[in-house]
Amino acid sequence: MKKRIGVLLSGRGSNFEALAESVAAGRIPNAEIAVVISNREGAPGIQRAESRGIKTRVIPSKGLEREVYDRQVAAVLDEHKADLICLAGYMRLLSPFFVAKFPNRILNIHPSLLPSFPGLESQRQALEYGVKFAGCTVHFVDENLDAGPIVIQAVVAVEDQDTEESLSARILKEEHRVYSQAVKIVLEEKYKMVGRRVLLTN
Ligand code: GAR
Repeated sequence: MKKRIGVLLSGRGSNFEALAESVAAGRIPNAEIAVVISNREGAPGIQRAESRGIKTRVIPSKGLEREVYDRQVAAVLDEHKADLICLAGYMRLLSPFFVAKFPNRILNIHPSLLPSFPGLESQRQALEYGVKFAGCTVHFVDENLDAGPIVIQAVVAVEDQDTEESLSARILKEEHRVYSQAVKIVLEEKYKMVGRRVLLTN
């Protein structure tokens, strides 16, 4: 049976698209994207999913208490029998309820070398801090912001002439590459957890 991926997003959806491409190309074998859920109406990621013929659902989060909202999302993921949940530019903190319901089954991609620069505008934070290396992180999700055990990171050198846009673009390219790798590792259970460390196995 194919493993079923549920994607949560809030906006552009380029990481979703990279995952969908990897599934289609067999780089994430034996898997399918079961549903794409957005908390924002009009998220371009939803149109991208629709044009690929993938099931979508918009569940507006505005005004809802965190757990009340997360229960609605969890119900849709259950309905689509999601084995793994991939956050792809999903700009919401998850409730303890949601995290406990899907233990070690939620991944996030973040555009920094965590634990540096969590939160918003990470690429700008990195430039302003003056780091020489930036990058991205795929990690398991816990109820803290951009925390949780790290599966893969990719490093991008910061150039003197970089702007937020140019650095973000180079990081995004790496995001698209490593997210698929991490999803494959997790779906194939080719890792073991030792404390916070995610060690790769064969
Ligand atoms: C990506 O850069 C992703 O790493 C970031 O939002 C962007 C979404 O782009 N996520 C976070 O900052 C999560 N804390 P996308 O919609 O094109 O995938």
